[in-house]
Amino acid sequence: MDSLFAQTFRDFAILISDDGSTDATLSILADYKQRYPGRIRILDPHHSTGSARANFARLIDFATADYVMFCDHDDVWLPNKIALSLEKMHWAENEHGPQTPLLVHTDLVVTNSALETVHPSYMRYSSIDPARHSLAQSLMQNTAVGCATLMNRALYERARPFPSEAAIHDCWCTLVAATFGKIYYVDESTILYRRHKNNLIGVAKWNISLIVTLALKTVMATDILMSLVLKSLQAKALLTAYADVMTSEQRKTAAALADLWSLRRTARVLVLLRHGLLMNRLLRNVGLFVAVSTYGTSRRSFWYPRLMRAIYLLLRKPKALVIRFLTHAGRVASRTVQQSGTAEEEVENGSMSYWRCLRRIHTQLEPSLYLEIGVAKGNSLALAKCRAVGVDPEPQITAALPSTASVVKTTSDHFFDIEARTILGSTPDFVFIDGLHHFEQTLRDFIHVELLAAPHSLIIVDDIFPNHQAQAERERRTQVWTGDTWKLHAILEKYRPDLYLLALDTRPTGLLLVAGLDPASRLLWDSYDSIIEVYGRHCGPPREVLLRQAAFPPKHSTLSHVAELLKKCRDGKLRAPEVVRRLRAVQALA
Ligand SMILES: C[S@@+](CC[C@H](N)C(=O)[O-])C[C@H]1O[C@@H](n2cnc3c(N)ncnc32)[C@H](O)[C@@H]1O
Repeated sequence: MDSLFAQTFRDFAILISDDGSTDATLSILADYKQRYPGRIRILDPHHSTGSARANFARLIDFATADYVMFCDHDDVWLPNKIALSLEKMHWAENEHGPQTPLLVHTDLVVTNSALETVHPSYMRYSSIDPARHSLAQSLMQNTAVGCATLMNRALYERARPFPSEAAIHDCWCTLVAATFGKIYYVDESTILYRRHKNNLIGVAKWNISLIVTLALKTVMATDILMSLVLKSLQAKALLTAYADVMTSEQRKTAAALADLWSLRRTARVLVLLRHGLLMNRLLRNVGLFVAVSTYGTSRRSFWYPRLMRAIYLLLRKPKALVIRFLTHAGRVASRTVQQSGTAEEEVENGSMSYWRCLRRIHTQLEPSLYLEIGVAKGNSLALAKCRAVGVDPEPQITAALPSTASVVKTTSDHFFDIEARTILGSTPDFVFIDGLHHFEQTLRDFIHVELLAAPHSLIIVDDIFPNHQAQAERERRTQVWTGDTWKLHAILEKYRPDLYLLALDTRPTGLLLVAGLDPASRLLWDSYDSIIEVYGRHCGPPREVLLRQAAFPPKHSTLSHVAELLKKCRDGKLRAPEVVRRLRAVQALA
């Protein structure tokens, strides 16, 4: 901390996340806070996140500054660290503009725990070429050390939220910078990089003993193999987060690493070579080739990386493994406890399953772009034969998704807040809203989707017919659960009489079909606060909702006529009111 406050550049603040320390850290920080008023913000004390990645991810979620640097608790910054990095950053922003994700990193002095210099240059000590910044190179070996990097806002906003598959926070930021922006290196050491046996992330001198150790580890399939498997998972996470906005070349490179373990052993080296997925130094690459061509078969491709990750965590981070296991067990247990109503409370109605109804609509509508809010296991997302984007903060995919589908792991609010338009690339023809079952969330999802939609787009909202009062409670305690999403139907009827609405009698909890969308309409936004106030007052679903009095049979041919008509409207010639007039005419004939 003293070395931070001794910087020649002084206009900065420090954001701290204490990761469950049991020593005097918090009282030391309180002391610094008093000595430097207004310069330090400590996030609410947090139970341990279990990893440096998760703790830095927490910090990045709270970041608001124009520029951000990571700081490890045990490193000592040299006085010109911020000034030097910032100078390069300003130069880079002049070259590329501040909206370009930019990462600047420097060299480090390697020291022992007593801060005695072991080597003046981390890059030379570890035999790493800092100029290796391409996406392929960064996927295989990160050259920017977290505590020696500076990021601009465009980069950290693009990189968050950090996925749990990110090897470590700095690797993820480098990958995002390599994909969407630029990386610059300052060939000067700006930090005393203290290495002691408790360091979570290692640095090793590139000498004969390291080479022999690496060779042995390779033959015994331990560290190298595990780190490779982690890199594959990280590449997969990169695709999950950004596939839609990556170039096709970048997608191919990341997919080559992500799918490496499903290839035949003989093909793996060729694929690595073809995509330039290589490490620093010939010997490291020899180890790499031995590892990938010796271990794993396609049959194991699903379990193998996961098993390796579990072994890796068990050996290297047992605490993280225990936390992960307990969190998972806690989630499963709370779901089991929460979601079991009586037989009467779990009652289901409907003349066709929602899934079958959605499948029919996909066939009839033939959308070019499908958007889904709330993916869960991927069962409904898997129905899309076209390009499809799913959004879910906690997807648990078990369905076989087509290669045209991708899942953005975040909440719908965050998705629409970031670059939903860029990720989607075009107007969605079909949207399924099935995320959080609280009416205000479903309403916001609807408003956000309509902004991106066109008069020919179709939105379907799930869960508008609870079958029992218990299913409509906001706190989930039944398997069949609608929450108070049913209120959206009433809200749209009242505030948007211009829309075409059709409530379908599907199992288990009904679907609401909405068409004739008007992206220019501000009616819902303008009334949002009063809607929340009025509909937020506690009330259960009325009798007509429970009895599905407004429900329309999903097997009726009207549904295919609606799909046909919307398909024809894709030429963009009709405005929303005319689309609605024609849809109502179709229904009047039914
Ligand atoms: C009912 S499940 C989706 C089921 C899926 N559409 C299907 O039919 O197979 C609801 C999902 O919404 C997700 N979810 C919860 N809050 C969300 C939010 N704020 N944004 C997007 N998804 C959310 C949950 O993680 C859960 O996976």
